[in-house]
Amino acid sequence: MTQSPAQPHARTALVVGGSRGIGAGIVRRFAEDGASVVFTYANSPDPAHRLAAETGARGVHADSGNRKALVQAIASLGALDVAVINAGLGLIGDPLTLDADAVDRLIDVNIRGAYFAAVEAGRRMNEDGRIIILGSGLGNAARAPGATPYGMTKAAMQGLTRGLARDFGGRRITVNCIQPGPVDTDMNPKDGPFAAPLHAGMCIPRHATTDEIADLAAYLAGPSAAMITGAMLTIDGGYTC
Ligand SMILES: NC(=O)c1ccc[n+]([C@@H]2O[C@H](COP(=O)([O-])OP(=O)(O)OC[C@H]3O[C@@H](n4cnc5c(N)ncnc54)[C@H](OP(=O)(O)O)[C@@H]3O)[C@@H](O)[C@H]2O)c1
Repeated sequence: MTQSPAQPHARTALVVGGSRGIGAGIVRRFAEDGASVVFTYANSPDPAHRLAAETGARGVHADSGNRKALVQAIASLGALDVAVINAGLGLIGDPLTLDADAVDRLIDVNIRGAYFAAVEAGRRMNEDGRIIILGSGLGNAARAPGATPYGMTKAAMQGLTRGLARDFGGRRITVNCIQPGPVDTDMNPKDGPFAAPLHAGMCIPRHATTDEIADLAAYLAGPSAAMITGAMLTIDGGYTC
């Protein structure tokens, strides 16, 4: 019998960075599963409002690069059962010439924002809660030149996941990291200029869909995953195998 009766239904879920792409797919999936869902957004109010109308989820403006606003927004939500830390920026290029302000912003959103969001969500979380962090296969391996700053931020998600799994395990909160490969979103469209070289390095040469990532998130959020914690779950069609 499952010791940890985490219920996928009637739970309160937060998706940090949920207006588009993978985050929006997870919002849809959790809402379909009966959860009460809140998501944050920063730069896409129109998609956020449409998603809220479509799913019944509530959108809250909170820039993950603004620590005080982010922490305040999460603290205002009350008790949580599930938190998905998804907000992230992409940045690829030669580290010798990349714009330093863009690298700073990447670190602010992808690392600082993820850290403070995960910690604040953990503070508010009920027992048997679930924290799911979006990393990347590029946290495992630099598969091509130009991935240094982005890969660095995603490798940091591995340390965040392992550390918080220890820190929050006493309350039976699991903390896991989903590491996608190419997923068809605005960040990495399946017909974009990087698609062909990405597919050439994969065992299963296609982009994943946001639904495929949402399925894994729903599994991790559910009762069957109560003993999975501190784990990196790579879902990349073999891109980094
Ligand atoms: N697509 C891929 O191939 C892929 C592969 C591996 C990992 N990932 C990771 O998966 C996550 C989602 O990626 P995606 O492909 O869905 O990207 P996307 O299509 O660019 O969507 C990014 C989402 O994050 C939100 N976001 C970005 N900056 C934010 C900020 N400062 N504050 C709050 N929200 C913010 C965006 O909201 P607004 O537009 O409202 O700001 C949007 O909802 C990221 O962490 C990414 O690194 C993606």
